Amino acid sequence: MIFGRVKSLDAILATAEKKSLHRSLGAFQLTMLGIGAVIGTGIFVLTAEAAQKAGPGMMLAFVIAGFVCAVAALCYAEMAAMVPVSGSAYTYSYAVMGELIAWMVGWALILEYAVAAGAVSVGWSGYVVGLIEHTFHLDIPDLLTRGPFDGGMVNLPAMLIAGLVTWLLVIGTKESASVNAVLVLIKVAALTLFIVLALPVMNMEKFTPFAPLGFSGISAAAASIFFAYVGFDAVSTAAEETKNPQRNMPIGLIGSLGICTIFYMLVAAGVIGTVGAQPVTAGGIPIADGGIALAPGSTALSQQCAALAAAGTEAVTCSKEALAWTLREIGWPQIGNLLGLAAGLALPSVILMMMFGQTRIFFVMSRDGLLPAMFSKVHPTYKTPYVITILTGIFVALFAAFFPVGILADISNSGTLFAFAAVSIAVLVLRRTDPSRRRPFRTPAIMVTAPIAILGCMYLFWSLGVETKLMFVGWAAVGLIVYFAYSRSRSHVGRGVSDVPELDAGIPPQPVPPLPGAHTPGGQDA
Ligand code: ALA
Repeated sequence: MIFGRVKSLDAILATAEKKSLHRSLGAFQLTMLGIGAVIGTGIFVLTAEAAQKAGPGMMLAFVIAGFVCAVAALCYAEMAAMVPVSGSAYTYSYAVMGELIAWMVGWALILEYAVAAGAVSVGWSGYVVGLIEHTFHLDIPDLLTRGPFDGGMVNLPAMLIAGLVTWLLVIGTKESASVNAVLVLIKVAALTLFIVLALPVMNMEKFTPFAPLGFSGISAAAASIFFAYVGFDAVSTAAEETKNPQRNMPIGLIGSLGICTIFYMLVAAGVIGTVGAQPVTAGGIPIADGGIALAPGSTALSQQCAALAAAGTEAVTCSKEALAWTLREIGWPQIGNLLGLAAGLALPSVILMMMFGQTRIFFVMSRDGLLPAMFSKVHPTYKTPYVITILTGIFVALFAAFFPVGILADISNSGTLFAFAAVSIAVLVLRRTDPSRRRPFRTPAIMVTAPIAILGCMYLFWSLGVETKLMFVGWAAVGLIVYFAYSRSRSHVGRGVSDVPELDAGIPPQPVPPLPGAHTPGGQDA
């Protein structure tokens, strides 16, 4: 039963052909799309969390997380090039491992996209609040700019940006390829500036002790910093809009990941080598003397940070805007503000991308009958799936209002790791069950790469905090209940409804809305 109700790969491809969107994205645009979705809160904000968990060893955490992403990306690329249709991991799993696993993957992707959008909103808030405070010499009360776990009550700016992005999506705003390119340039320029200013003044002594919390600290940091790489799979969801996906998809996926990894390594080195990255401990007792590192996102850490700030000895691990803070510390306050401005301008596009990814997954799941048809209801004027967009927006705003960025990022990672593992398994299974299917891109050394990707995802998942893992299990349990109580009996595949379900279900045919950064079917920038 677990592997029942497989959706035929040929039927999926045929459906995609019937409704195919204008193919306009090339390798360069895909790479830009990838970088646009990937660089965000992870590097701008979570660097501080990674330092708190691993100290300077976070350098290694970036490498480990990047490596797991790279092997998973190689598996993703084979699937994306072979099945260039919407729905990414969810659709692939449907074709290979059946409806139940596909449902679980789709359900996990909700964590990936919606919770990640919440995390990026919180990251945005940290930078914008810092920017306003430093530019206008104001002190905005923490009560209104941080959630209850983080020394505040509600993160109003984070809610605000989530609401704004929801509204933009409802009225059909799509980031055009050119806007995406500009934002990518801003992010890359900001990080480059950081690297150029920080690397020359590095002090190698700051790298010791390298791993104050041992390898378990590095693993925990890798599991969190994995968030910094999330989003490259958004590229695969653009497969239907890609010219020659067989060639361009793998380039887009692996190219964007490679470029981001290089930037992350250099930025991390810049932070460690200038302001140091030793974890903040309870009572300030050094770890070597038995001090206990405080958990990121905990009340204890925010209290200790407040004490350090009062004493004028704040640490980067306390900062909500780690990179801007570092620049101010090394004597570049104005450039620090500029970097804050860059983050403030560019992060909303990551939120947009994540929320759009979410609505698209919901759209495809609803098209398959697993979620109510109402979810794919399109607004009469704006032609957007507004019901699901607003619903998603409400949840994103609530996550952003009340939870710290690190906790949201970890929860998002749990869902993403599950989805990546599922895709890696799917690629392996399909090589056995359908060996003769044309594979425009073949994962190199699949018998090694896919198992490493699966084990890597399991290792990172295992390295997440206990609470996060329990949250994931709870979420999966709710998903199973929804599936058996609602979706299973309504599934189009289960009911034997044709593969163009809209026609059978009496729902007017609706093309899947194009991805931000993509061109509209008319060939014009949206
Ligand atoms: N990778 C994206 C970020 O770091 C989600 O914001």
